[in-house]
Amino acid sequence: MTQTKEKDVLILAIESSCDETAAAVVKNGREVLSNVIYSQIDLHTLYGGVVPEIASRKHIEKINQVIKKALADAGVSLEQITAVAVTCGPGLVGALLVGVAEAKAIAFAADKPLVGVHHIEGHICANYIENKELEPPFLCLVVSGGHSHLVMVKDYGEYEILGRTRDDAAGEAFDKVARAIGLGYPGGPKIDRVSNDGNPEAIAFPRAKIADNVYDFSFSGLKSAVLNYLNGCRMKDIAVNQADVAASFQKAVVDVLVGHSMDAVARYGVDRFAIAGGVASNSHLRAALEEACAERGVRFYRPSPILCTDNAAMIGAAGYYEYQKGVRHGWDLNAVPNLKLGEKI
Ligand code: KG4
Ligand code: ZN
Repeated sequence: MTQTKEKDVLILAIESSCDETAAAVVKNGREVLSNVIYSQIDLHTLYGGVVPEIASRKHIEKINQVIKKALADAGVSLEQITAVAVTCGPGLVGALLVGVAEAKAIAFAADKPLVGVHHIEGHICANYIENKELEPPFLCLVVSGGHSHLVMVKDYGEYEILGRTRDDAAGEAFDKVARAIGLGYPGGPKIDRVSNDGNPEAIAFPRAKIADNVYDFSFSGLKSAVLNYLNGCRMKDIAVNQADVAASFQKAVVDVLVGHSMDAVARYGVDRFAIAGGVASNSHLRAALEEACAERGVRFYRPSPILCTDNAAMIGAAGYYEYQKGVRHGWDLNAVPNLKLGEKI
């Protein structure tokens, strides 16, 4: 059994917003005692993307086992838990509901406080886990399957969104392009890998700039450019070099993400920059940002890849800071599929 001091805050965290059923126990916001992830990826790969109905059903099937294992791995009993934190949005409504209903049931039965957590806040807070000294304020680029945000983290739980995507999220663009070039789902990791064998300068894909907000992103034009390129090759009967397309597309995304981020670093004069979300595990993006930050004398923070993609440890970290601020939710806590960052839950 894990030794805990009376003042330690142990959060049992639950995450089920998309296709990962996850639970974790996190101590004092920064120490992960357990982090259990059941990934449904193999199941959804058959269909070329996440099927919401299947995701919800699989969450129901797995969630109890995953939570049990998280408590066992941490060596703590439910009685020792201080509070239960759960992702309540944004995400797939059916998938979110499974986690929210489960968290409410456990918190009610065990007489523990309940804390609803914003999924993107969780991604940002993943940075606290391996960097004990990191504190706000800092600038964070959040790039996941559903979001591309450039966020000023002003304080714990206090965010100002400087830029966001006008259309597709970065991860969504990776997934769509991967499908178009025959790599399948999930696209991000596959493009990351295949790009190592390609030439990033082979094809000149566009880098979109948004006139009225230089920090906003747009990836749908890039996606269309890739589709047009592929169509053109087909019509002219030219063989497509999959690795070159992957590498050139990825370079276009990375250039835009790094460019916008460094513009904001300069404009806001920050000395700490972090990344978060599934796309933050992209090796080429990590390397490019590392170099760009080093050139500017900016400290660069990036969670380990396993803490970038969906997990519950990040929800435990975010839940801790919400709990410390006095946030408590009632039994009417609901799933909010379009929850905005900073919006009151
Ligand atoms: O944060 P996440 O796990 O789930 C959401 O909240 O959306 O992000 C999933 C996204 C997917 O679009 C996936 O293709 C992308 O992150 N991703 C990557 C990599 N690993 C995951 N994109 C680029 N390179 C990767 N290595
Ligand atoms: Zn996510």
